[in-house]
Amino acid sequence: MPLTLDTDEVQPPAALITAPLPARGRKRAAGGLGGGKLLPGAKVSRVLDLPQEKLIKSISAIAVSKKRAAVGFQLFVGSVVENGRELSSHDLQAQTQRLLDQLKCDAVVSEINGGRGIVNFKINQELLAKTVVQQVSKDGSEYGFKSELLSSLPRGKMLVEFSSPNVAKRFHVGHLRSTIIGNFIANLMEALGNEVTRLNYLGDWGMQFGLLGAGFQQFGCEEKLKTNPLQHLFEVYVQVNRVAEKDESVQKAAQEFLRRLEGGDPQALSMWQHFRALSIEEYDRVYKRLGVYFDEYSGESFFQDKSQDILKLLESKGLLLKSVKGTGVVDLSEKGDSSSYATVVRSDGTSLYITRDLAAAVDRMEKYHCERMIYVTDKSQENHFQHLFQILRIMGYSWAECCRHVPFGLVQGMKTRRGDVLFLEDVLDEARTRMLENMASAKTTKALDDPHDTAEKVGLAALIIQDFRGPLLSDYRFDWDWALQSRGDTGVFLQYTHARLHSLEEMCSSETSCDFNPACLQDPQALSILQHLLRYDEVLCKSCEDLQPKHIVNYLLTLSHLASVAHQALPVKGSAAEVAQARLQLFKTVRSVLASGMALLGIKPVRKM
Ligand code: ARG
Repeated sequence: MPLTLDTDEVQPPAALITAPLPARGRKRAAGGLGGGKLLPGAKVSRVLDLPQEKLIKSISAIAVSKKRAAVGFQLFVGSVVENGRELSSHDLQAQTQRLLDQLKCDAVVSEINGGRGIVNFKINQELLAKTVVQQVSKDGSEYGFKSELLSSLPRGKMLVEFSSPNVAKRFHVGHLRSTIIGNFIANLMEALGNEVTRLNYLGDWGMQFGLLGAGFQQFGCEEKLKTNPLQHLFEVYVQVNRVAEKDESVQKAAQEFLRRLEGGDPQALSMWQHFRALSIEEYDRVYKRLGVYFDEYSGESFFQDKSQDILKLLESKGLLLKSVKGTGVVDLSEKGDSSSYATVVRSDGTSLYITRDLAAAVDRMEKYHCERMIYVTDKSQENHFQHLFQILRIMGYSWAECCRHVPFGLVQGMKTRRGDVLFLEDVLDEARTRMLENMASAKTTKALDDPHDTAEKVGLAALIIQDFRGPLLSDYRFDWDWALQSRGDTGVFLQYTHARLHSLEEMCSSETSCDFNPACLQDPQALSILQHLLRYDEVLCKSCEDLQPKHIVNYLLTLSHLASVAHQALPVKGSAAEVAQARLQLFKTVRSVLASGMALLGIKPVRKM
């Protein structure tokens, strides 16, 4: 992408400057860069006579590959859309040629070539080194986010609902995925400049509490509830379910308990309250291990009464229809023939999952006035959310357009050595134990102050990277051995690279000064890294648009591979002072981008392993 080059000493190519830069397109790029000029958007903009902001997305940094070691940008002439229409192939050729004829090299662009709808701009390599390293050191974790490329992305108040486990039921792998994906989305959106509220919408109501209430009276134990609440509630739940299958009186007792609960019976309510509070306490503890937090714990229970209001509202708008089964439905068909509908109320008048979600959505909007609302769950709920948003639209809530469901695929084979995963904590413990074993047997492992803590962070990175590598919607088979490999495209490799770069900095800390000679960063391994760093904003932009972490993951893996090649080829220790200094700056730059990318993904980079 057109990184803004801070090129005070570079003379503007006079021949190309025919008009001042369009002010709108310049606002971010110019920020804090002392009037630096864009490259090469401004040039192209003048030749094609198009505003720069139209070109930004058509110019990208050339991707680093084994075959090509090109340094610079590429313009895809064909993707420049004029008046909403694509260029015809004849026009495309003509425009490409015109650009090639008219664009001139200068102190920034050292070579221009191309054809077939593509124009390549090779950049002055020393300027590249100087600008990228300086920019990263100046922007720190904001590097990339300040780019003009991201300036058109919407920003504002945003609500991200994720994790949302069901109290007393199993915390399944889907909840783990929702937790890490939601956390990533919240991190990313916050870094982009949104005001993000993180919300956990617990499954804390419904028949499971009827069963639990009835079951606890028979099988519950206060002592166990205190020491290990989730485990104990789950045991009671499983036990009472088993009994209820055969014993109708238990079913009756459960229904009775639920009725008391819904009727506001103080004793039933206080029991429910107690279960819920203990569960949240324990969830919180585990979320802490993950580095995840919530601004609010909401839950289905909050919307019992409010869903009755929603039903009344639907009725007053003439949208609530009675089905032959006696249930209440909303017609979602286009023709109005109820060929597609959503059930919103049972025949006995009680609300459903979707009714509570309708009430919750309206409530969130009133409370937070957010511009966007995101829900993260597995793909089995896609239909549910489509219906939810559709009903909101039919009800006249225009903000329904700003709601988005981020679905993800299923994970198979997530098992611990003891058996199936029951709770989130089991997964974290397993990752940590396995990682500790691997570290103990690896020769390279350093002496650590807190091996448990390191193993936890590395194990979590392994889980996250395995999960985030592909499209979120894909199902995948979980494989501990694969995820925990120290080489290859894993979270362990990212952590390892980060730790290595960190220890390099520590070893060479005597050489720290921000000044360096960019002429010392002209080896191909250094140039590949610099070129790759030039692309970071494009990758962030993609992830911000489609909310998929895979772009960032693949980017960071490539960065780590490039860094490990450079680490071998470009020693710091033992090189001439000027060279050592420049290389150290380069490696610092890599570590900075690696660390902030990892943090976005929800990984805590380790300094030693
Ligand atoms: N508790 C639900 C489940 O485990 C997920 C809740 C998703 N969020 C929502 N607003 N419906 O399936």
